[in-house]
Amino acid sequence: MKSVDAVATGHPIHHGPLFRPRQDDIYIASYPRSGTTWVQMILYQLTTDGEMTFRHISEVSPFWEESLKSGLGLDSLPSPRLLKTHLPYKQVSCQPGKYIYVARNGKDVLLSYFDFYKTYVGRRKSFSEFFDDFLVGHVQYGSWFRHIAAWNAQTRSPNVLFLHYEELIGAFDKSLERIVFFCGRSIPAEVRDRIAERCSFAFMKQHENKFAPQSPMPADSAEWKSEGAFIRQGKAGTWKQQLSKEQAEAFDAVAQRHSLEPLKGLVVWFTGLSSAGKTTIAKHVRERLLERGLPVELLDGDAIRQGISSDLAFTRADREENVRRIANMASRLRRNGAIVLVAAISPFRESRSEARRICGGFIEVYVHAPLQVCESRDVKGLYPRARRSEIRQFTGIDDPYEPPLKPDVECRTGEENIDASAARVLDVIQLSLETSVTVTSGSLR
Ligand code: ADX
Repeated sequence: MKSVDAVATGHPIHHGPLFRPRQDDIYIASYPRSGTTWVQMILYQLTTDGEMTFRHISEVSPFWEESLKSGLGLDSLPSPRLLKTHLPYKQVSCQPGKYIYVARNGKDVLLSYFDFYKTYVGRRKSFSEFFDDFLVGHVQYGSWFRHIAAWNAQTRSPNVLFLHYEELIGAFDKSLERIVFFCGRSIPAEVRDRIAERCSFAFMKQHENKFAPQSPMPADSAEWKSEGAFIRQGKAGTWKQQLSKEQAEAFDAVAQRHSLEPLKGLVVWFTGLSSAGKTTIAKHVRERLLERGLPVELLDGDAIRQGISSDLAFTRADREENVRRIANMASRLRRNGAIVLVAAISPFRESRSEARRICGGFIEVYVHAPLQVCESRDVKGLYPRARRSEIRQFTGIDDPYEPPLKPDVECRTGEENIDASAARVLDVIQLSLETSVTVTSGSLR
């Protein structure tokens, strides 16, 4: 196998005139031995009629950085092109299109890569030499730790889908659903079944010659015949039987050094009068985020007041206490990487400031509609009761509401529709996620 010059330079790939990028290109990116071929096959099955008439998968889904050298075949491929790449994020990300990254447990990658080296790269190294090289990144594609960290930091970019090999094994249907959604497609049940069948371990093993690398390999190698099969075991976690305790610890120590920061979530705090539209917008935003596979939690004032705040009334002190409890909960969820949507009247500036301080990453959304509009919408029938003084201390009637002076987003729900409000909130969420580093130590180990 040829070495990839670009990996060594670390610069974005300059593809020259031979390659003309297309907006609908799909890059299937990974570190070697992480499930690349599998994802190529899934995408091939998804975007075509799935016929197995190709001699080798590279005819329908070429190895991008290798093909660039010759320029052969890329232009004649139908859209969307499925381009396999092992390059680091920085070197491919300047291309238009979508990126599907597949990550796999690093210890399993290491073991699989060792077998691959023996079989295809032809370098004779003991396992312990290879192990040391892998940890410091002295292998063909450089440091696995850095590769995955850089791609992982893009988990929340709208044009990047981050998959886990382990999830493909354990929950194929769910992963497939994410891929289908990410590619903006919908497929009937029979296509879904065909994809599942053709992407099964048994089917791909049966057609192994269509998937194994074509590059030079020691033809007479006894190892190739005995243990070098390209489609290997289709299992996760085999490292547990094969790495010593010391090796596993050494690996974890390096992973630890590369984990930049714990995963950061976000608190999006919707404040405004009763019936202004806080919950409605929050639910809309939640749906959009869930579709992208992001972890979301909605803490809604009404539900909270029936649950953990059921002992509280609507005095100033009780409202402050309510907000304090919600903020503490939201903060904990956020620290675990969730995007927490809070919908609570939270009428006092001071307690919203305290919530911001407790939560850290915080976006304040002022959901605003004139009182008459809120009253006319009121599905719970609370405003008439407040007007008749059957409910006391009702916000906006006989209790104050202090509007935010500088909200991060203001949604005027009397003037714009829910989609427009939600879209603006989503834009700010997106911006905030992109600027925070999101490397989970979990996926590094
Ligand atoms: S907050 O002021 O403490 O932030 P929160 O949003 O949790 O209020 O709860 C508001 C919900 O409680 C309203 O949506 C409404 O259904 C109900 N509610 C009952 N009494 C009142 C009241 N006096 N003022 C405002 N909301 C009330």
